Amino acid sequence: MSAALSEALAASAAKVEAALDAFLPEGEGLEAGLHAAMRYACLGGGKRMRPFLVLETAKLFSVDEACAMRVACAIEMVHCYSLVHDDLPAMDDDDLRRGRPTVHKAFDEATAILAGDALLTKAFEILAHPLTHADPLVRAELVLALALASGAEGMCGGQQIDLAAEGETLDIGQITRLQRLKTGALIGFAAQSGAILGKAPAHIRHTLVAFAHDLGLAFQMADDLIDVEGSASVAGKATGKDAARGKATFVSILGPERARAQAELLAAQAARHLDLFDAKAAHLRALAQWTVARGA
Ligand code: IPE
Ligand code: IPE
Ligand code: MG
Ligand code: MG
Ligand code: MG
Repeated sequence: MSAALSEALAASAAKVEAALDAFLPEGEGLEAGLHAAMRYACLGGGKRMRPFLVLETAKLFSVDEACAMRVACAIEMVHCYSLVHDDLPAMDDDDLRRGRPTVHKAFDEATAILAGDALLTKAFEILAHPLTHADPLVRAELVLALALASGAEGMCGGQQIDLAAEGETLDIGQITRLQRLKTGALIGFAAQSGAILGKAPAHIRHTLVAFAHDLGLAFQMADDLIDVEGSASVAGKATGKDAARGKATFVSILGPERARAQAELLAAQAARHLDLFDAKAAHLRALAQWTVARGA
């Protein structure tokens, strides 16, 4: 990773951590365990790539950072919820996440389910709040875009296909669709959100959708490669699980060499969509490159 990107990512992740901390109170009474699980799911780990995408795309349109940070926290909450549920015994049945026991291990399954539900709901509460944007139409647009990205036409739909495809051989088109929904949709929201906040014209917003399209696929290919080639100590999660569960991934169909070549091609293509933003998009271009070069 370039020094400039690593500094920018670290600085942004620290701010995101503080903002998430403020959004997620400790809680009291009989429901304190739910609040503790929500905090455990969101704080103290993760690359914070989706918040970085929000904050960097918001900068392209000179959006107020406090507004962008609220959207950054909202998408990270939805992402963390998706990980909590993804790790449940009924789904990928994982014990390790971000280098720590998964939420259902640290708490229990019912609390993990509720913590996921509550994080998803909290994200929409944050987007709908007037502090996120003075214009209610912009807030409605953010809510609509996140709903589409998270639901049956987005992440949840992709997760369902991922489960249905266990032990099946999908063709490249089917796997592409699966990954686009499962991973690409939330990354797509993150990359567009700066344009929504900045009321950018449709064609500019579209450019960011195209960027996210390629970035999301490259990112999931890299995740699949890490599952095959990475170690749990670096990845912070168990590896070798996709093959063991018969998951349909890019690596399962293309093999690691071709999957890596394809991911690199997509990352380069992603960066090229940003040409019109010149130097302002330097971090976003570097992020696309890092997505495939990262070890975890
Ligand atoms: C993991 O996402 C799940 C996928 C969609 C591949 P990340 O690799 O962004 O996980 P964290 O947030 O850094 O833990
Ligand atoms: C998870 O994909 C994607 C979502 C949580 C939506 P994976 O199952 O490949 O993610 P990891 O490898 O467990 O992080
Ligand atoms: Mg999964
Ligand atoms: Mg998983
Ligand atoms: Mg994976």
